[in-house]
Amino acid sequence: MFNNISMQASKLINLTKKQNRKSKSKIITITSGKGGVGKSTFTANIAYLLARRGFKVVIVDADIGLANMQVLFDIRPKLTLFDYIEGRNTINEVITQTSFENISLIAGKSGYQYANLSNSLVLTRIVDELKNMNLYDIILIDTGAGLNEYVQEFLSVSENVLALTTTDPSALTDVYALIKMLALNKEKLLICFNHTKNYQIGETISNSLVNLAKKNRLNPNFMVKYIGNVSTSSNISTTSRLRKLFAHEFENDEITRQLHKVIDSLLIDLR
Ligand SMILES: Nc1ncnc2c1ncn2[C@@H]1O[C@H](COP(=O)(O)OP(=O)(O)O)[C@@H](O)[C@H]1O
Ligand SMILES: [Mg+2]
Repeated sequence: MFNNISMQASKLINLTKKQNRKSKSKIITITSGKGGVGKSTFTANIAYLLARRGFKVVIVDADIGLANMQVLFDIRPKLTLFDYIEGRNTINEVITQTSFENISLIAGKSGYQYANLSNSLVLTRIVDELKNMNLYDIILIDTGAGLNEYVQEFLSVSENVLALTTTDPSALTDVYALIKMLALNKEKLLICFNHTKNYQIGETISNSLVNLAKKNRLNPNFMVKYIGNVSTSSNISTTSRLRKLFAHEFENDEITRQLHKVIDSLLIDLR
């Protein structure tokens, strides 16, 4: 399935390569096998800190189960990704400015069914159109949990894939499944641990995943790069509930420092 989507997507990309060769936009798809690991919260806070560093960021909320990016940013966009997918609106029309400078959002829609989407490559087109606009330095795609074909399509058109996970065995099993899939035709996976108190724990587990991949003789050129950890903090859930951004409210907190460290690593590896 992934190969099939990849092949179709790369055809489309080749067609449009001429146009977006000069695009400055870097795509980062944030994924996780399991839901509830903190993907959307992480994405929103990373977006904020990247914007603070002067990058122009657009977030695509592609979680069909629970589209909550507009809640995290406390805005009520009139149009969503699905107005674009269903052909009613242009990409420009579905982009909403958040209250933060340099952060725009293409909102999702909870409970939406991606009906009749198969093979239309509409998700590939979204990414391509955003790239061709050449307006954003960074395009962050927050996907839903799991590795369904829509998530796979986003993964196949992303130069950068970031897995957010916890140390929970079932979450790690899902990350390994992701590694197996990406090793078929990607070069690298960036991995970040949420709800993880210290940096070394994440590093040790990342190394174990790399060793497991070696043992199972996955593509030896495929790299898993550990980019850091984020601890658990009740202030994160509290700020979310109040519809505020943690990194904005707690600029000097230890967790904000961890997030900055993650961004430093991320930027080194961005393609
Ligand atoms: N590091 C953290 N510490 C405490 N709570 C967190 C942390 N990361 C996320 N959360 C909370 O966990 C819940 C799920 O996060 P969310 O970002 O919606 O997960 P996902 O997008 O992966 O489903 C939210 O209530 C959020 O506030
Ligand atoms: Mg989410």
